Amino acid sequence: MARNVDPNLEAEIPGLLSEDGTWVSRRLFFDPELYEIEKERVFGRSWLMVGHESQIPNPGDFFLSFMGEQSVIVVRDNAGAVRVHLNTCPHRGMPVCREDRGNARTFFCVYHGWNFSRDGSLVGIPNQRASYPEDFDTSNLGLIAVPRIETYCGLIFANHDADAMSLEDYLGDMTWYLDTSLNRRAGGVEVVGVQKWRIGTNWKVPAENMIGDVAHAPATHSSVFQIAPGDPAAEQALKSVLEYGRNVALPNGHGGTFRVYPKDDVEGRLPGETALRDVPGVGEYLASIQAEAEERLGPVRKHLKIATCTTFPNLSLLGSNFTFRVAHPRGPMKTEVWSWVFVDCDAPSEVKDAMKKFFSLTFGPGGIFEQDDGENWEGVTYGASGVGASEHAFHYGAGLDAGPHPELPGTVSRVYSEHTQRGMYRRWHDLMLVP
Ligand code: FES
Ligand SMILES: [Fe+2]
Repeated sequence: MARNVDPNLEAEIPGLLSEDGTWVSRRLFFDPELYEIEKERVFGRSWLMVGHESQIPNPGDFFLSFMGEQSVIVVRDNAGAVRVHLNTCPHRGMPVCREDRGNARTFFCVYHGWNFSRDGSLVGIPNQRASYPEDFDTSNLGLIAVPRIETYCGLIFANHDADAMSLEDYLGDMTWYLDTSLNRRAGGVEVVGVQKWRIGTNWKVPAENMIGDVAHAPATHSSVFQIAPGDPAAEQALKSVLEYGRNVALPNGHGGTFRVYPKDDVEGRLPGETALRDVPGVGEYLASIQAEAEERLGPVRKHLKIATCTTFPNLSLLGSNFTFRVAHPRGPMKTEVWSWVFVDCDAPSEVKDAMKKFFSLTFGPGGIFEQDDGENWEGVTYGASGVGASEHAFHYGAGLDAGPHPELPGTVSRVYSEHTQRGMYRRWHDLMLVP
């Protein structure tokens, strides 16, 4: 049941965003009352990525995850189906799973000892006969199931809203872009590690950064580029971002920044940053599977490379670094980032290891890019909330000339644009406007 919202607060929601999305209230980034509403209206209604099927290959394998702030158990049942249960005992609410991951025959509540099967059914109550009649019906006392679970390329999405549109409709043309990272080989991808860390920012800040904030890179990451002055690879990377980069906004608040390489630039369109391709074995592997990938992706997408993108609300993918992440909200000014490294299932083990190391060096919690970004994301959040400042909206007016593209689905602009962020905040606003 939806919580009652103070009518005065409800009346303020329409004014949080200007009609074209150009002005965004700072309150989105720190206001505790709005945060409580968005937990229901945004996270209670959106498809949320909770893990990858490769994390739970066998019956009983589980992975503890989150939908917003709600802890959930992602588990494969005896029949091989993926289930998502709320991690709260139906008796008094105690979490029934307190391990990050593993294999469980049952989930045992340590408070009064109720026991639940992998499919969530209540299968044991200590001293049941002393407490309940012989014909006591336990069928409605199982773990609370999340009503909708659907997958795409092994990514497991769950939705609290039983009436939500299908995941396929929700993602729409986002899959056309995500395929260029996740669907290059017939065998698909697997995840080879997940890292988690907390940061003092609102969850929207990392999400909007990854949806296409290319403009921050030269300033924020200048120290990275200064490490290798005159490095032709670094210079070429910056040049190709400007020349071939395009930002794409899609329905339902998704979007990202991509590079479309010229037809004859065979080297440029290989996936992965140049520094990763220079690791012995990795460049050779990526080049060796390019023909298969191009065959699968077809004439347009074989030239396309994902830089970063965000699937609304909080799933982002960094294609060149082989990682996707979820910005789990942990309060109006706190986020827990979970980052997964993904790699082709059929890649050699040394390539998988190299991907993990490269991720740690770049976008892991101590990564050279992640450190730069995190500093700004905390600064944005605290800067938004100051007395005297909080009533002045943020400006998202770059790239107002975005429009259709002859080959790419969505609304497209050059890379120095904020139309992907405008699309993201319009989606957020649409959800927030519906009680
Ligand atoms: S709270 Fe779980 S058995 Fe009582
Ligand atoms: Fe960055």
